[in-house]
Amino acid sequence: MKFKITEKIKSIIKRDGKVMMTTTRGDVPLVIEKGDGDFIYDVSGNKFIDFSSLIAVYNFGINANKEVREAVKKQADVLMHAAFTDFYSEIPVSFAENLLTMFPKGFGKVFFSNSGTEANEAAIKYSKLFTKRQYLIGFYNSFHGRTHGSLSITSSKLVQREHFGPFNSTVHVPYAYCYRCPFGKEYPSCGLECVDYIKKNALGKEVPPKEVAAIFIEPVQGEGGYIVPPKDFIKEIRNIADDNGIILVSDEVQAGYMRTGKFLAMDNFGVTADIYTMAKSMGGGLPIGATITRSSLGDVPEGAHSNTYGGNLAAVAAANAQLRYLKKNLSSIEMQATEKGRIVLDRLNKMKDKYEIIGDVRGLGFMIGIEFVKDKKSKEPAPKERDEVVVEAFNNGLVMLPCGASTLRIIPPITISIKNLEEGLDILETSISNADRNQKRRS
Ligand SMILES: Cc1ncc(COP(=O)(O)O)c(C=O)c1O
Repeated sequence: MKFKITEKIKSIIKRDGKVMMTTTRGDVPLVIEKGDGDFIYDVSGNKFIDFSSLIAVYNFGINANKEVREAVKKQADVLMHAAFTDFYSEIPVSFAENLLTMFPKGFGKVFFSNSGTEANEAAIKYSKLFTKRQYLIGFYNSFHGRTHGSLSITSSKLVQREHFGPFNSTVHVPYAYCYRCPFGKEYPSCGLECVDYIKKNALGKEVPPKEVAAIFIEPVQGEGGYIVPPKDFIKEIRNIADDNGIILVSDEVQAGYMRTGKFLAMDNFGVTADIYTMAKSMGGGLPIGATITRSSLGDVPEGAHSNTYGGNLAAVAAANAQLRYLKKNLSSIEMQATEKGRIVLDRLNKMKDKYEIIGDVRGLGFMIGIEFVKDKKSKEPAPKERDEVVVEAFNNGLVMLPCGASTLRIIPPITISIKNLEEGLDILETSISNADRNQKRRS
């Protein structure tokens, strides 16, 4: 379906521009009214296949889970807020108990917040408190949020950090971004030079390991460009943490909650972290974040960390209904993420052979990125071409989100039908083919 812009759309966007502070919107005039499963509808009845899960939130279909909706409605009539951090309530406790069943043995404490960044703020404070150390290690291209602590670890785009320093004491180190290896090497003959660099430089010259509280890592980098590291990279990072008494924090805000085919993205690497952070898809559409810690790390003193809305009853009721759905359908969701991810990767790899502007295609489960370049040889990032693809796809009825310098993320709801997935891929391929032709004409 071709997108038609209407006066209503124009007018809402104009009113928005007058009163809303600028955030992170791109070039598509998508004014959303409703969603159902694989589709998003705008205020003028334009219908779109969704390849974004509305920023990795609706992993199981856009507003599709009836049990989640019913749970929220029911809870809204009883009580939505119980000041759970100051008093007691059973619903958040039940959800925490339920959530912990999804974690490896030995994970026993949960802190609820309202977003991914807050989940990471708690992880930063806990790591410092548990170790009595002050430094953090973060990776280039990482994204952990936009509040000050998590922004300190974030190192994805300059605009996210410009004018906001000075930051929390963080040392940034290279991630295994093999398509653009910072050392100009190739995996596996590189022998993971990026890991050696961390040991020799960051921990050998810049900060004494005994002063490092935590290493924060996304098992698959998200906002920074959908970067999938080799398995042994993550294993080596675990080893560095173990060798130096450093807490390993796995930020699963985007990659977790079945996106990669597993509840914890870290499980794809055969590694267990010490603290996990989650948000996005956990609430099934309502805001909730969680910081989940290994019991052996201990507890925090009363008053050291808390919030107002953590454990909000409506959000927790939604999250518990979402988790019950997940557990009931676990093997089907695992299979769908793996199978549909494979379908997308196969198709994209064929496109990569055909179109000069596709530099790299990569993914884990159903978390897939396409990196656009001016040409395959120079690998020069092609943000303009990537943005053209997003806009043209949108005009033809497909919603997608960019990430990194010139990458496009493909994260449809895991439950998307094969028919809609393939229709979306057809729209995507037409847009890529046109952007490829335009780029050839320009160069
Ligand atoms: C990996 C990761 N961590 C943290 C965040 C921050 O989450 P929120 O926007 O809910 O604060 C995001 C958001 O995109 C993310 O992708």
